[in-house]
Amino acid sequence: MAFDPLIELRNVNKYFGDLHVLQDIDLTVGRGEVVVVIGPSGSGKSTLCRAINRLETVRSGTIVLDGQPLPHEGKALARLRADVGMVFQSFNLFAHRTVLQNVSLGQVKVRGRKKEDADRRSRALLDRVGVADQADKYPAQLSGGQQQRVAIARALAMEPKAMLFDEPTSALDPEMISEVLEVMRQLAEEGMTMIVVTHEMGFARSAANRVVFMADGRIVEDRAPDEFFSSPRSDRAKDFLSKILKH
Ligand SMILES: Nc1ncnc2c1ncn2[C@@H]1O[C@H](COP(=O)(O)OP(=O)(O)OP(=O)(O)O)[C@@H](O)[C@H]1O
Ligand SMILES: [Mg+2]
Repeated sequence: MAFDPLIELRNVNKYFGDLHVLQDIDLTVGRGEVVVVIGPSGSGKSTLCRAINRLETVRSGTIVLDGQPLPHEGKALARLRADVGMVFQSFNLFAHRTVLQNVSLGQVKVRGRKKEDADRRSRALLDRVGVADQADKYPAQLSGGQQQRVAIARALAMEPKAMLFDEPTSALDPEMISEVLEVMRQLAEEGMTMIVVTHEMGFARSAANRVVFMADGRIVEDRAPDEFFSSPRSDRAKDFLSKILKH
C-alpha cells in the first residue's frame, strides 16, 4: 500500500551535551499509516516523538508535517502541538480540572471554539473512548486506564493530523492495558496516522503497517511487522526480541 507522506524526517540529528541521541534519522510516515517504534531503553524513542512535536529542538536536519517545516514559536507552534496529538506514559491531565474541562480547554484556547460547542464534542469523544460517565470527575478519581483514555480524547478533540503515543500503557495494570490498546486499535482502523512507542508486541503485529527498530539513536530496521518479527536482520533486533518475547 502506498501512502502520501504526512510526517517526514530527513537527516535529523540531536545531541544532549555530547550524547548523540538521534543520529541521521530518516523516517517517513504516510497519511493513515501506523508505525510502531521499538528498541532498548535509551535508544531515542521518546526523543524522536518529542522532536516531531517540537518539545525538543534538533541540531540539524528537517522535520516536515503535511508539507510544512515545523514552526519554531508562537501561535503556529501551538497549532502544531494541536495538529500532532501526544499521549505519554504518565497521565498528564490537568489535576484541578474535571475530565470534561480537560477535553474542552484546548478546543476553546487553540481552536477557538465556543465553550458549548467544545463541551458537546468533548462528550461525544468521551463516549467514544468509553468514559462518558466520568465527565464531571477529577482525574485522580479515575483509574489509570480511564485517565489514559481521557488523554486520548483530549488529543482527538483538537482534530489532529497525527497522533504520537509514547508508551501509553507502560504505567497501567494489566487489565487496563487492553482497554487503552482497544481504543488505539480502533483509531488505527479509522485511518488515523499514528506513531506508537510500545512494548506491546501484539499491538505491533496486529495494528502496525511498519515496525521501526531503534538502537543507540539510529533506526536499525524499518519493515513490515511480520517480516520484522519472523526474521529480524540485525543482531541488535534479534537480541532485543529474544529478551522481550521471553517474558
Ligand atoms: N533532557 C535530557 N537531558 C539529557 N539527556 C537526555 C534527556 N532526555 C533523554 N536523554 C538521554 O537521551 C537518550 C535517549 O533517551 P530517550 O528518552 O529518547 O530514550 P527511550 O528510547 O525513550 O528510552 P526508554 O525506553 O527508557 O523510554 C538516553 O541516553 C537518555 O538518557
Ligand atoms: Mg522513552
